[in-house]
Amino acid sequence: MKRFWVYINLITSAWGISHHNVSNHTFPTDFMIGIATSAYQTEGGWNESGKGVNIWDTFSHESPWIVDRSTGDIAADSYHLYRQDVEALVQLGVDFYQFSISWSRILPTGFVNEVNQAGVDYYNNLINELLKNHIEPMVVMYHWDLPQQLQDLGGWANPVMADYFQDYARVLFSMFGDRVKWWITISDPHSISYGYSEPQSYAPGVNASGVGYYLAAYTLITSHANVYRLYEQEFRSKQRGKVGITLNGEWYEPKTDSQEDKQATEMAMQFVLGLFANPIYGLKGDYPDVVKNQVNRISAAEGYHRSRLRKFSPDEIATVKGAYDFFGLNYYTSRTTRAPKPTTDVKNNPDINVIFGDFSNATKSAVPYYEVVPWGLRKILNWIKKEYKNVPVVITENGFSDDGKVNDTERTKYLVSHMSEMLKAVHEDGCNVIAYTYWSLLDSFEWNLGYTVTFGMYQVNYSNPNITRIPKSSAYVFSEITRNRNLPL
Ligand code: NOJ
Repeated sequence: MKRFWVYINLITSAWGISHHNVSNHTFPTDFMIGIATSAYQTEGGWNESGKGVNIWDTFSHESPWIVDRSTGDIAADSYHLYRQDVEALVQLGVDFYQFSISWSRILPTGFVNEVNQAGVDYYNNLINELLKNHIEPMVVMYHWDLPQQLQDLGGWANPVMADYFQDYARVLFSMFGDRVKWWITISDPHSISYGYSEPQSYAPGVNASGVGYYLAAYTLITSHANVYRLYEQEFRSKQRGKVGITLNGEWYEPKTDSQEDKQATEMAMQFVLGLFANPIYGLKGDYPDVVKNQVNRISAAEGYHRSRLRKFSPDEIATVKGAYDFFGLNYYTSRTTRAPKPTTDVKNNPDINVIFGDFSNATKSAVPYYEVVPWGLRKILNWIKKEYKNVPVVITENGFSDDGKVNDTERTKYLVSHMSEMLKAVHEDGCNVIAYTYWSLLDSFEWNLGYTVTFGMYQVNYSNPNITRIPKSSAYVFSEITRNRNLPL
């Protein structure tokens, strides 16, 4: 422990950072700090002990779109090494651990006809190990790994998935809900929906540009809402947990002050975040007006009699509206936005009247499209506060990628600067943020980027079977923050 402190003081004083308390740098009482992973990215054990095949098993084995042609077959091997993960979490001093459950490890086909006891045992062991160490489990039900047999029915493009997802959720609430009090139904439906639109994006890699995205989005929103209502009706009175969804937020900053650029920016916010948030957190239980108008208008111009955006029925609106206990927000980056010049610009997405761009002076990360823009977090938190009546926000992911070195100064800067902007939003702007999660505990499989970039505070090392998780310097600073409850500024 002593070594921790010497080390931290060295790092922070090297930046000219002093250690006195400033209220703006202090976390509110009851504020929760945690760290995250997801099943496919870390567990490995892809075909062990009865687990069924999921769409990322298939995609990683078959698709040419993973840059290093790697897979999550072994990944960080958490299926076997979860005790070491919990040891790392104890060192970090976190309040909670966010991890996801692999649907096909619990239900190999996706259906409730067969429950895989070995899968249930694995998650029971992990949950019990966490609780033994006073770490709260925050469980994601779906982090991108749909059972392949359900994909064979069309996956999220088929509205029947909402029923299958509800069946699966009932199993999870029944088996783990006595101990799990924080549930995230779906992590980042925006990225999931891309997998039904662009073949080179994410699994399942369906090629249906302009259509598949909206179909999947619709099913994901209704699926989340059905599970929220299920909890309300059958489990809440006994289990007393909280249920939310995680949405992916980027902040868009207008390139100039012109009315056109501001309008383009608002349209981008509504298309990326509002499309999922507005039905659940908004007043009307429906997509934002600007999204509906745009897609309806362009579909008509294309000669279609009906919009490519699938409508919610009145019953669905009633189910979806207000289906939340909190707002899960992933924040990694911001982009500039401006109106297109009608004759010369090619829009990134034909439905949105916007041109996205970079910030020329921002620090870069290993993922080219994740520029480091800490102030964007404060802005997006204020946008959510304004749009959705200051709903409680759990920052469900925020993280920095590099080449995996242990002396990861840039990761520490990322962490502290983002937490600092978040605390300004809380203390100065009155934003209702209740928790912060760093992504990720471990270096792991980064989807299409394979193992070429790393987000972990712990390096994963296979060469020494006894020491497979090595803390990076950011882990020491993070553990100081979780213990002091303020930032080293
Ligand atoms: C969002 C995703 O939920 C997660 O799986 C991914 O690793 C991080 N962003 C980093 O890109």
